[in-house]
Amino acid sequence: MANYLKFRGTIMKVYIAYESKYGNGKKCVEYLTEAITKKGHSVETSSIREINPDSIPSADLYIFSSPTHIGRPPRKMKKFLNNLEISQEEAKYTTMVTHMDPKAKTHQIINNLLQPKGMTKVPDGVRIKVNGMKGPLEEGYEKKLDAFANEIF
Ligand SMILES: Cc1cc2nc3c(=O)[nH]c(=O)nc-3n(C[C@H](O)[C@H](O)[C@H](O)COP(=O)(O)O)c2cc1C
Repeated sequence: MANYLKFRGTIMKVYIAYESKYGNGKKCVEYLTEAITKKGHSVETSSIREINPDSIPSADLYIFSSPTHIGRPPRKMKKFLNNLEISQEEAKYTTMVTHMDPKAKTHQIINNLLQPKGMTKVPDGVRIKVNGMKGPLEEGYEKKLDAFANEIF
């Protein structure tokens, strides 16, 4: 099994910043938080509506979680990522995206926004489908998130 962060045996600090209009992404964040916590790591989460992008806590891994609006992250999320200030060198991140259309480029757009900030993506992000604007989440999303947590740690 992959262990991209080479963290095995060490307690790692994960920070998840999310946007979620209808609560589907938030549900994924809560599930993923539990999956990572069960592995012995610590997770802190914030809605991007509650925090300033220039004062987020330092972490070993950042996860940015976003819905897809008109083929991309919502304006709020883009603004948050544009204004993100992370002082540590070589900060690592990954993404979690919800969408109806699997061809949406939301991940790619988030990566393009973070690349100039010198952040490294490890591993590839996870995509979760919603069956309609307001959900529900695709069947088996929990398994996808368990596999994602295993991939990270
Ligand atoms: C204004 C708006 C535009 C949307 N446009 C897209 C889209 O272009 N492609 C897509 O796959 N989903 C689109 N959706 C559906 C969202 O992907 C879905 O609402 C979201 O993933 C649900 O996550 P949330 O409950 O965390 O907000 C759109 C939703 C809204 C509200």
